[in-house]
Amino acid sequence: MEEDQLICTCFDVYKSEIVKAIKSKELTTLQEVIDVTDAGNGCGCCHDSIQEILDEING
Ligand code: FES
Repeated sequence: MEEDQLICTCFDVYKSEIVKAIKSKELTTLQEVIDVTDAGNGCGCCHDSIQEILDEING
């Protein structure tokens, strides 16, 4: 299994949680991921990483 990755250090949100939220709730935008997971709700450093995950899943 691929090693989990800490994406948002402000809120301790891992990649697996973000992937799960995107898939189960069919999220398509950065703002939706922020609202649902809290990832990205702080300094904003992780926004690019969250967007990459969104692109990976939604193409
Ligand atoms: S690292 Fe995600 S908001 Fe700061």
